[in-house]
Amino acid sequence: MKKNILITGGAGFIGSHVVRLFINKYPNYNIYNLDKLTYAGNLENIRDIENSSNYNFIKGDITDSKFINELFNKIDFDGVIHLAAESHVDRSIENPDEFINTNILGTLNLLNAAKNTWKEKEDKLFYHISTDEVYGSLGEKGLFTEETSYDPRSPYSASKASSDHLVRAYMHTYGLNTVISNCSNNYGANQFPEKLIPLVINNIKKNKAIPVYGKGENVRDWLFVKDHATAIDTVFHKGKAGETYNIGGNNEWQNIDLIKKICEISDSRLNRKKGESEKLITFVKDRAGHDLRYAIDSSKIATELNWKPSLTFEEGIEITISWYLENQAWLDNVLSGEYENYYKQQYSERENK
Ligand code: NAD
Ligand code: TYD
Repeated sequence: MKKNILITGGAGFIGSHVVRLFINKYPNYNIYNLDKLTYAGNLENIRDIENSSNYNFIKGDITDSKFINELFNKIDFDGVIHLAAESHVDRSIENPDEFINTNILGTLNLLNAAKNTWKEKEDKLFYHISTDEVYGSLGEKGLFTEETSYDPRSPYSASKASSDHLVRAYMHTYGLNTVISNCSNNYGANQFPEKLIPLVINNIKKNKAIPVYGKGENVRDWLFVKDHATAIDTVFHKGKAGETYNIGGNNEWQNIDLIKKICEISDSRLNRKKGESEKLITFVKDRAGHDLRYAIDSSKIATELNWKPSLTFEEGIEITISWYLENQAWLDNVLSGEYENYYKQQYSERENK
């Protein structure tokens, strides 16, 4: 029987990879991609699958409760995979309100619509995609597990933590089947170039300063986005309702080392002299409340659901750098509009630290 699956945020970075995977792997699913197309959402990200017979695009805003209720009344969704969010920490520091609206109230609207329209609740699943940033910041040692207490420290992570709590509350209170995964930093094609890895590659291409916050000593665990998509597929189909799964790449990098690695690979790809791109590195004012280190223990999803990343970081970063070097039209497209002004203002303030 055909299943109706709602994927929110499917025109964004991770969502577009999830939509593509589901469209190609599950011809018996009707995929509904609901996206507002903010600056971070772009239909170019999913151009290749837009004519698939099992694909439907709905332009809409999850903060609009009337619209969300009407949608759930019109279509009997069998599952929701909820990715739509405001996702950039720096923007959350500048403008927290948008994060509260989309990430908390938007999630609440989806939960209410599911609670009110899903009759056979046990056959349906509400899957909420979240971040490891809800756990706060680690010192030099230790890993986040599913038992780590929540300690969000940026407006972004606080809004995601709040939505996670709402999702769990709707399971306990109203019997909605829910599952949550918390993932580390993703990288790969189609990521808006305000996030570290695409920003660094784009600036190298343009011979622009590479802004390193503080001393570049902060640590992130990086996972290739297609591996996150396969983890989401795994949790959606094999995860146990009520459970949380941490997803990570077991791949920690200090920002400065990661940036130097990208410079080195880019020099060789662009036929530049060794060390040329590194000269662009510029230390700028640190991010307010900058979390020192994120690192994930993903042994639960590995042992219980048999998921692991398919690529090494060396493979993933090579693919990623090639993609941004070869897709200038995509970069020009997403960077047109309001973004250039935002970037200039952000970085002139940082450089005048
Ligand atoms: P993104 O910013 O690239 O994409 C977000 C998408 O949501 C965009 O297409 C945007 O148009 C859409 N959207 C935003 N507000 C909306 C609204 N009000 N209504 C409907 N659609 C709206 O984000 P991403 O990096 O792909 O992240 C996707 C999800 O994964 C988020 O929930 C994020 O918290 C989570 N996550 C991201 C990472 C990461 O490294 N990027 C890591 C872990 C978890
Ligand atoms: P980012 O990609 O914004 O992801 P997050 O803050 O969600 O982890 O940033 C990754 C790391 O890189 C983080 O420690 C902040 C740092 N960073 C820079 O040093 N310079 C930059 O221009 C950006 C965007 C981030």
